[in-house]
Amino acid sequence: MRKLLWGLIGGGRGSQIGPSHRLGATIDGKFSFVAGALDADPDEGRRFGIELGLTKSRAYGDWKEMLRYESKRTDKLDLVTIATPNSTHFEITKAFLESGFNVFCEKPMTMTIEEGEAILAISKKMRKICAVNYGYSGFSLVREMKSMVKSGIIGKVRLVKAEFAHGHHADATDAENPRVRWRYDPELAGVSAVMADCGIHALHMASFVCGAEVLEVSADFVSTIPSRELEDDAMVNFRMTKGIVGRLWSSAIAIGRQHGLTLQVFGENGGLSWGQEQPNQLNFMPLGGRLQIIERGDQNLSNTAKEASRVTIGHSEGMPLAFANLYVDIANELSNIKGREQGLELYPSAEDGLRSVAAIHAAQASSAEMGKWMPAVPFSLMPDI
Ligand code: NAI
Repeated sequence: MRKLLWGLIGGGRGSQIGPSHRLGATIDGKFSFVAGALDADPDEGRRFGIELGLTKSRAYGDWKEMLRYESKRTDKLDLVTIATPNSTHFEITKAFLESGFNVFCEKPMTMTIEEGEAILAISKKMRKICAVNYGYSGFSLVREMKSMVKSGIIGKVRLVKAEFAHGHHADATDAENPRVRWRYDPELAGVSAVMADCGIHALHMASFVCGAEVLEVSADFVSTIPSRELEDDAMVNFRMTKGIVGRLWSSAIAIGRQHGLTLQVFGENGGLSWGQEQPNQLNFMPLGGRLQIIERGDQNLSNTAKEASRVTIGHSEGMPLAFANLYVDIANELSNIKGREQGLELYPSAEDGLRSVAAIHAAQASSAEMGKWMPAVPFSLMPDI
């Protein structure tokens, strides 16, 4: 199989997510990192690109220059990752899809539902991949959870409880720090802060693991630090297809919580529970039985989970390798290799990106109306269309 050619936009020096993409994309030898526009500052972007091994001609100052030159090349990029701040995702994703590139976009895919609908339509029209980085769905034991739910071992799912809570924006005296402030500014962040930033992962994970879609939401968004326009804490009730009841808490002021993404799934015959901070263990409790701790790397896991696990049992494996699993799924599709396990859709698509954006907007609207239940299914994905 030829090595696929990969480009990155954003993810410059010191960025939060750039290193995880660079590690994730290249660790399995499926992609070569050959082009990038890595920084809002053109000179710094070029400099950093060259430091990372890009040739001078493919270390670009900005994404428009990158699009212009890369479109003319015969050795065209197979995949472009967009890891810039949220408000730029739509414009960049749209431009690259329309020029015939496959795209892997950071979440949230867009700021508005209309933009999300447009991206889904363009990716279908152009027949190009538009994946969205709900990267935590790449953890081996999250995939094991999905396989277990699908196998029926916990019976019909009754309830799913998702959380993504941290305490890193809890310091009221730091609220005006520019790196923190923009996240709570509707001009720059859109209609939601913590729910669009963190809760969105938990909501996607609930759908991914249960194989069900969010239908409606009832939410309570609160800015506990009064100068903030957007919420720093959110509680969301939701209903899913298959009759599943959902509960979600997302917070940025939960002092003592670091990166508290957790998922619990309760079925008629058992319960499952997993947390991102201890990703190597999955708790399984069969009804009337004893608690079992499933370890990443165990022999008897599903193929999906086995293939998503690289490091020997007992050794640590983390987020960059979870991202790597999404890159492998995309590479397999680009190379026309069958997915890892038939019947399981593994990497999140533009459809997932649109569903989440619609759910966030519905939650915000619900909160503005004192928790009134609001439909969360985007127009183009309504079942009768
Ligand atoms: P950051 O602020 O740490 O880094 C952003 C980088 O993009 C910087 O290097 C900046 O110079 C560069 N940049 C900004 N505008 C640009 C432009 N027009 N062209 C090229 N480069 C540009 O931001 P962070 O935290 O890395 O977030 C980036 C994106 O990744 C956001 O959409 C965020 O929601 C998402 N994210 C996703 C996570 C996940 O688990 N999937 C985790 C953290 C962030």
